[in-house]
This record gives sequence, structure tokens and C-alpha cells, in this order.
Amino acid sequence: MTIIAVQTSPNEDGLTARMAKAALEGAEQAGAQTEMIHLRSLNIGLCLACESGWGPCGKEGRCNQDDDFEMVRQKLASADAFVLSSPVYFGEVSEITKCFLDRLRRCEWGLGEESLFSGKPALGVTAAGGSGGGAVPALHGIETYFYHLRCRIFDLLTVTQRSKEYQLEAARAAGAALARFADSE
Ligand SMILES: Cc1cc2nc3c(=O)[nH]c(=O)nc-3n(C[C@H](O)[C@H](O)[C@H](O)COP(=O)(O)O)c2cc1C
Repeated sequence: MTIIAVQTSPNEDGLTARMAKAALEGAEQAGAQTEMIHLRSLNIGLCLACESGWGPCGKEGRCNQDDDFEMVRQKLASADAFVLSSPVYFGEVSEITKCFLDRLRRCEWGLGEESLFSGKPALGVTAAGGSGGGAVPALHGIETYFYHLRCRIFDLLTVTQRSKEYQLEAARAAGAALARFADSE
């Protein structure tokens, strides 16, 4: 059983990445194989809204662009469950998170019930600064993306600099529970 985490902060040792790492550690303790993907180190471009708005994503469930998007999509699709961890920027998920999820949901929406993510358990995380302002709207953004992917939302967590001590523990526990859940399916 495999659990993959995608973290989208440029800081590979920052709070966003630490939450994803903690979830993977929990998943490993529960017997999962894990992998971390640092999305910022990959080449994933903006959705270009091809043709009149729906290009091959809407018609065939694929994206025209030749970059790292399809590789990450296929990796996640092959996992039994996944974790998506984003920093909070301006009260929303980060630009890099949006770039990837905008294209992913178009492709999966185009596949309808055949979506590669249909029923896949997913854990969403947003990591904010000291104020924590916008962490909840950002998390709601992830929930909406998961809904469009037809994922099964396993849990949604927020963390701030103030809450990190106990939320890192929560992420570890959530990762373990996610792995047990995926294994029982
Ligand atoms: C452009 C930008 C916008 C930010 N906007 C917010 C915000 O709206 N609310 C908040 O609490 N923190 C905000 N922050 C702080 C980050 O969410 C915080 O530093 C977070 O921990 C970043 O995660 P990282 O440590 O994984 O990089 C912002 C940071 C940046 C760079």
C-alpha cells in the first residue's frame, strides 16, 4: 500500500513540508510505502484554458502541455491515498498548488465517473503563519478541489506557527489512520 504526499512550499524544511512529512511518518508506522513530492522543484505550468475553455481535458481527460504535470498525476493516481499540503498565501492555497490542482481537476472532471481519483482517500493540509488568518478559507479551497476530483476526503488539517507542536502530532496520527483506512478498502 502506497501513500504519496505532495507539498507545495518552496521551503523543503518549512511547516508545510513538515506536516506532509509527519503524515508520511505516521503512514509508514502503519505499514505504508511512502513518497514525498516537492512540487516547487518540478516544472508545472499554468492552465491555458485551451480552445474556447475546455480543451482535451474536458473531452478526453488529458492536458496538452508537455511538462511534469502528467507524471505527478499518474503517480498520485497509482497511490492508495494521498496527502496535499499547501502554505497559506493571501488567505488561499499557494499559486503552485493552484497551478497543479487547476489542471488536475479539469482532467479528472473530464473523465467523469472514470476519474483516476474517484473515491481515493485524501488528506488536505494548509500551513499558515503566526496569525493563521486565511488558513480556514485556504482549507476550504482544498476541500473544493478534492470534491471536483471526486476524492474521498479523509480529513482536513490546518497548522500555524502557534499550533505546530500539537498539529504535527495530529498530522502523524492522521497519516497512520489514512494508511489503515486505505488498507481496509
Ligand atoms: C506571499 C505570502 C503570503 C502569505 N499570506 C499569509 C496569510 O494570508 N495568512 C497567514 O497566516 N500567513 C501567510 N503567510 C505566511 C505563510 O503561510 C507561512 O509562512 C507558512 O508557514 C509558510 O509555510 P512554509 O513554512 O512551509 O513555507 C504568507 C506568506 C507569504 C510568502
